[in-house]
Amino acid sequence: MKFFDTVEMAPPDPILGLNAAFKADPRSNKVNLSIGAYKTDDLQPLVLAAVKKAEHQILTEGMDKEYLSQDGDPEYVKRSIKLVFDIEQDNIFGAQVPGGTAGVRLAGEFLAQIGGQVIYIPDPTWANHNHVFTRAGLKVASYPYYDTDRREFTKSRMVEAIKRIPTGSPILLHACCHNPTGIDPTPADWKELSTAIKTQGLLPVFDFAYQGFGQGIAEDAMAVRYFLADGHQMLVANSYSKNFGLYGERTGGFYVVTTDPASAERVKSQVMRIIRANYSNPPLHGSRIIATVLASDALRQEWEIELAVMRERISGMRRALAEGLNAGGSSVDFSFMYKQNGMFSYSGLSETAVNRLREEFAIYMPTNGRLNVAGLSPKNLDYIVEAILAVL
Ligand code: LMR
Repeated sequence: MKFFDTVEMAPPDPILGLNAAFKADPRSNKVNLSIGAYKTDDLQPLVLAAVKKAEHQILTEGMDKEYLSQDGDPEYVKRSIKLVFDIEQDNIFGAQVPGGTAGVRLAGEFLAQIGGQVIYIPDPTWANHNHVFTRAGLKVASYPYYDTDRREFTKSRMVEAIKRIPTGSPILLHACCHNPTGIDPTPADWKELSTAIKTQGLLPVFDFAYQGFGQGIAEDAMAVRYFLADGHQMLVANSYSKNFGLYGERTGGFYVVTTDPASAERVKSQVMRIIRANYSNPPLHGSRIIATVLASDALRQEWEIELAVMRERISGMRRALAEGLNAGGSSVDFSFMYKQNGMFSYSGLSETAVNRLREEFAIYMPTNGRLNVAGLSPKNLDYIVEAILAVL
């Protein structure tokens, strides 16, 4: 008997699948603008100096390799809560999790367990959100977020949609650097959204994967911190993949803001069980790096400088791309890119144009036209500009 005959081929992942196709592409001029991963001007991956120093310290101290508890290293969690919320409160439960995706998945599973049925996610959103929440046992519905014609955040349509979402529903929000559009609500918009969400009785679920890649560490945390101050209960998933460059170390956090310490304890007991049934407990190395950097004034300062350098390099490349396209006589005015934040640029390129870029020019990006600005450099910019102009 053959057990696996009837297993069908799954579709490739819209982001990771492209990354794999890129690696397999033999063309020497190929350019990877697919997955959100930072590259230097030389198009090399970057391991931050603060991270290397922390690793050196960890090795020198000869730390053991014992299991962590399901919710991870308390020191790491404490410092993460401070970084995200800027405050420590005993009504907040936090857990160390293997990367931002695990935090989002845990949010979904926890919501499903406490009776959540449908989660409302922005249209558009990260290509994996729908998949993660569906696997976690939720149904997914969307609310309007982006005005494609005007290429901007559509606050009025989002607020109108919020009024129609059933009370008690979870609503997913990108805390900063919205993926894929790069367009964020302003602080004033966030205040209005907070009121609308509270009035409607919805539970905010923040995906916070890009802290420090937009305007700065504190600026990018504005929405989460404001919602906290405004009295929301909420879930937050954060990630150190981007801001510490710890992509493969799978280092993130999951937080539940409750109303009181006793609720936080009960939530903790349930989340611990979900984790135990999934991956048992999180990996050690990434969290040790974060805890070491955040505990040292010198390393933290070094990290903040390195983060600012990454942020500025990305925004410089975004400017150069828009300028290059506009100077090349494009029929589209690419100045809208100046308003985008974070790693990505929602280019507005059609699926046909994206496919041509891949087939004819070996330039890879997801079919929604999102390009990873952190993968641009003075080395490939002219080639990319010419290629985009050719397929417009
Ligand atoms: C992305 O959107 O490219 C990143 O968040 C990486 C990923 O896991 O998809």
